[in-house]
Amino acid sequence: MLDSRIAEARRALAPARFVLVLTGAGVSAESGVPTFRGPGGYWRNRHFSELANPDAFASEPRTVWDWYLERRSTVRLCTPNAAHAALAAWAARRHADGEPRGALVTQNVDGLHERAGHPEVIRFHGSLWRNRCSACGAEREDEALHHAELPVSPCCGALERPGVVWFGEAIPRAALDAAYDAVQAADAALVIGTAGVVYPAAALVESVRAAGAPVVEVNPDEDYGLGERGAFGGVWLRGPAGAIVPRLLAED
Ligand code: APR
Repeated sequence: MLDSRIAEARRALAPARFVLVLTGAGVSAESGVPTFRGPGGYWRNRHFSELANPDAFASEPRTVWDWYLERRSTVRLCTPNAAHAALAAWAARRHADGEPRGALVTQNVDGLHERAGHPEVIRFHGSLWRNRCSACGAEREDEALHHAELPVSPCCGALERPGVVWFGEAIPRAALDAAYDAVQAADAALVIGTAGVVYPAAALVESVRAAGAPVVEVNPDEDYGLGERGAFGGVWLRGPAGAIVPRLLAED
């Protein structure tokens, strides 16, 4: 059954000139990074949505920083899995002739796609490894796992916040523009490890789908889709990304 569905999905993706790939927390689950809406969505009995917003940072910056620093510590000990590696190898093969033949938009802030060597990652929700000046918005790399004192920006001397997109916040302009360009160019979409409930990320796939393009979805959760169709109405490959994506993207 899964074999024939993977074959069907490969046939759907093979003729595509440009594939939009959207990934979520599920693609990093087998690397040990907790997902949000799974059992890992709580920290110190606080739901992630209580902490991942500007109001929480304004009222309790130390707590919010401690959560992000703990996430850095967790991710630092993780390594990219077979799904990250297969996506990176596939992208490298497809871009071999210098023509952009796809784009990877990730909602993840963990940096595991980059560590797997993916040639081009659109970080739609920012990065765990960047700090943002709360005064001017300037960003810088920060690999620190501990901050005795909360970080202060070299530019303004203002408190820095994690360089991620929080609920109620806009997507960074450059990432949004790059993602929209990819949607325009795409004639197929591949969706891996996302609940598909957060916008505007989910709308990217909906736009490609609305243009009549094939969509392939990888997700093990039996409640993710309906019957044989995934949450976006595409070919649903029900199983873990680490097992399915390498088979889906294997060289002919
Ligand atoms: N392989 C593939 N998918 C998996 C795996 C796996 N091994 N394990 C879990 N999943 C699926 C789950 O079934 C779920 O549908 O990954 C999805 C993860 O969903 P969420 O935890 O909701 O994460 P995501 O969709 O990426 O969240 C989107 O919401 O919390 C905000 O900004 C945050 O970027 C995040 C956004």
